[in-house]
Amino acid sequence: MTAPTDNLRINGERLWDSLMEMAKVGPGIAGGNNRQTLTDADAEGRSLFQSWCEAAGMTLGVDKMGTMFATRPGADPDALPVYVGSHLDTQPTGGKYDGVLGVLSGLEVIRSLNDLGIRTKHPVVVTNWTNEEGARFAPAMLASGVFAGAIALDHAYDRRDPEGKSFGDELKRIGWVGDEEVGARKMHAYFEYHIEQGPILEAEQKQIGVVTHCQGLWWLEVTLTGREAHTGSTPMNLRVNAGLAMARILEMVQSVAMENQPGAVGGVGQMFFTPNSRNVLPGKVVFTIDIRSPDRAKLDGMRARIEAEAAEIAEALGVGCSIEPVGHFDPVTFDPTLVSRVRSAAERLGYSRMDIISGAGHDACWAAKVAPTTMIMCPCVGGLSHNEAEEISPEWAAAGADVLFHAVLETAEIAG
Ligand code: GLV
Ligand code: MN
Ligand code: MN
Repeated sequence: MTAPTDNLRINGERLWDSLMEMAKVGPGIAGGNNRQTLTDADAEGRSLFQSWCEAAGMTLGVDKMGTMFATRPGADPDALPVYVGSHLDTQPTGGKYDGVLGVLSGLEVIRSLNDLGIRTKHPVVVTNWTNEEGARFAPAMLASGVFAGAIALDHAYDRRDPEGKSFGDELKRIGWVGDEEVGARKMHAYFEYHIEQGPILEAEQKQIGVVTHCQGLWWLEVTLTGREAHTGSTPMNLRVNAGLAMARILEMVQSVAMENQPGAVGGVGQMFFTPNSRNVLPGKVVFTIDIRSPDRAKLDGMRARIEAEAAEIAEALGVGCSIEPVGHFDPVTFDPTLVSRVRSAAERLGYSRMDIISGAGHDACWAAKVAPTTMIMCPCVGGLSHNEAEEISPEWAAAGADVLFHAVLETAEIAG
């Protein structure tokens, strides 16, 4: 396999223009995006992406999870495709680049191949995975999880958003139930380019993160049952206070994560109080603990401790406690051949680089179960992500897309 020559570059200006165009769909309230999965804004973003893919001469396939696969054919009809992708859905207060950069850089790779008149032996497929974020429907990376055989399709269809709407119904409503069996496609390789979502690359002044691993995760949904009662007239010793149990469990999660340093994180981003009224002690509190580590033993150890200690905390207050795991993947080691291909592409292109472990989850974590997979990262300002103020520079975006271009080209092979 020959490496592409170092003068091959993507069109950074066109990539940036497309990022800014997509950012107009589902605007947030502070300069970012709210394009949550299976909303009308998601449908609008999908249509825009579809129109760009068709204009670039690609053919679109959609599977039963609504994941979009846009194909540029290869010269060898028997060669398995090289996949490139990420996600177009966002958090409720999402940035313009989380996920979107990977999908639109995949498109930019295709546009550049077209400009340069390059044919590849393997087809190249640009993918938009449905519901990467897990903000509306837990778990995150739902469609890639089904694709990898880790999550059943029926289970995925039955996931509910906070209003009780099901994933299956919402997918139908926006008109994106495809006809392909999920996971039927076979991949020669999968590449995902993403912003770091952390502070390391910027602090180290490196343009490219060569992603070697991704840390594993557990999402533990805790339901605490107290007794609804008047906050003014109920004496302190007669309260069955589910809110207090939640507060103590939050402190405990913080301590468990701190005691597992380095290489562990834990926190809570979502909670629901019922009835959520100022002067009623909550009868029910539901919240999700998110714990992560690249070390599987550490991750599972944290889970066991949190489950045991949460039960003790609740019992001491007379509060009922049940815990259900609603999201999980093991730590991932990416494919060494593809990792070194990314590393040498960065070298060839003259970009500074360092090896890095992904702190966030990505569809690549599930793709790695079924295909040789790796990731590329670029810095983001202040490490800020899942925040509308998330920012990158056009130069950073283009450098990573150049590396993606080279790694994909080397893997898809220039047709003789
Ligand atoms: C997915 O975006 C995650 O890391 O939570
Ligand atoms: Mn993402
Ligand atoms: Mn995200």
